[in-house]
Amino acid sequence: MTLVEWPEEGDFATKADREKIIKDSELRESLEGVFDSITLRYAYELIRRGVIRRFITNISQGKEARVYVAEGAEGYVAVKIYFTTASEYYKTMPIYIEGDPRFSHLKRGDRREIVETWARKEYANLSEAYSAGVHVPKPISIRGNVLVMQLVGGSEPAPLIKDVNLSPLSWKKAYNQVIDDLERLVVNAGLVHGDLSEYNVLYYRRPYLIDMGQSVMTSHPRAQEFLFRDVKNLNLFFRKKGIELKDLVKDDLIAKWLASRR
Ligand SMILES: Nc1ncnc2c1ncn2[C@@H]1O[C@H](COP(=O)(O)OP(=O)(O)O)[C@@H](O)[C@H]1O
Ligand SMILES: [Mg+2]
Repeated sequence: MTLVEWPEEGDFATKADREKIIKDSELRESLEGVFDSITLRYAYELIRRGVIRRFITNISQGKEARVYVAEGAEGYVAVKIYFTTASEYYKTMPIYIEGDPRFSHLKRGDRREIVETWARKEYANLSEAYSAGVHVPKPISIRGNVLVMQLVGGSEPAPLIKDVNLSPLSWKKAYNQVIDDLERLVVNAGLVHGDLSEYNVLYYRRPYLIDMGQSVMTSHPRAQEFLFRDVKNLNLFFRKKGIELKDLVKDDLIAKWLASRR
């Protein structure tokens, strides 16, 4: 891993300054060549405040966001930076934002506002899930479209659950742990993940749910539909691992979870 040193404080206004700070040209390009100046200002603000000490590497280049490993104030962090540039998902994001009383008054036309609301929503969802005892990365800070959370995996980013090899017993345990988290998410946090599959579960000694921008409150008009889809996706994955699926995920149990939400 390349280490990029950041000073404790300082003004990050000029390009020359930033070149001094991010010596690794590839990493600098990964940030500065991709994100607009407002996004970079948010990132530099987080650095100035000491939330991020140095960027280490880029771990994921999705359609909606890039994720970086960085050194935080207390250990390693994952920095998820959402794109504000044109993307097809502006059409789908409002579906998950509207119908959520926490994030009303969305101006549909304003892209930066949509994306910042989305990032704030992911931060709020992670916070509520984390407080409810669901295994998710602990959220640390949010500035605009830049979200900082605990790195799952200690010093190296954890792999996705689809990429790990486990014993049959461990697969069974992992399945039970995911279902327990799912129940806690619905009953204790009052949330439905909305995009759950083996692509949004990390494995570090146990499963961790990630990627919660689209998660909605259980009062959302489509919450039940999203929850059924999540359970179906998980079942498809775990069935391939030879897991005997529990009665727990039968539809009437999902209804019970939804009815007993706090
Ligand atoms: N907290 C984290 N700890 C470790 N790796 C992470 C963390 N958050 C995201 N990642 C990595 O970044 C990838 C993309 O993150 P995700 O939140 O799923 O965004 P996307 O919207 O691009 O799917 C994940 O598949 C995972 O490999
Ligand atoms: Mg994802």
